[in-house]
Amino acid sequence: MLYCGRVVSGYQLGRKLGYPTANLKIDPAIFPKDGVYAGKVDGSKLGVRLAAVSVGTRPTVDGKRRVFEIYIPGFKGNLYGTKLKVSLLKKIRGQKKFSSLQGLKRQIAQDVRNVLEFKIKGLAKDRQTPDRKKTSRLLGSRKVQSKKA
Ligand SMILES: Cc1cc2nc3c(=O)[nH]c(=O)nc-3n(C[C@H](O)[C@H](O)[C@H](O)COP(=O)(O)O)c2cc1C
Repeated sequence: MLYCGRVVSGYQLGRKLGYPTANLKIDPAIFPKDGVYAGKVDGSKLGVRLAAVSVGTRPTVDGKRRVFEIYIPGFKGNLYGTKLKVSLLKKIRGQKKFSSLQGLKRQIAQDVRNVLEFKIKGLAKDRQTPDRKKTSRLLGSRKVQSKKA
């Protein structure tokens, strides 16, 4: 399923965590199940990129509202007000309540590694020769490294 919506402002905590997210305004009636997903995002400022998608109330920070937010590895621009199309490729895990923000940050780092690994495995399985330009665009320019708190 494809989720389309505009990027609205979040609570800005993601920036402090080191994982700024784009919060998508979508109809709550079509929200997917809560969880963390590997996804693909398409937007005019982005092209098609891989993303880590979080859906839920963010129990660690005591969120009440369910939000649909995406982290795009390697992307540093401003997406406020732009329209994005997101498709969910695979569920990685459920939402969890962490006892500290450091714990959440470590888990997000692991989620991002899992998302990128998922894509690389997918490309390796592909019987055609992988398109290198497409692969590096999807993965972004940033090298993914272990982020220790
Ligand atoms: C990949 C990913 C996984 C996440 N997993 C959780 C989670 O398990 N539990 C949780 O409370 N919040 C989770 N979040 C949401 C963060 O709490 C949220 O991005 C952070 O609070 C910043 O939100 P803000 O920028 O709207 O303030 C996740 C976010 C991302 C990008």
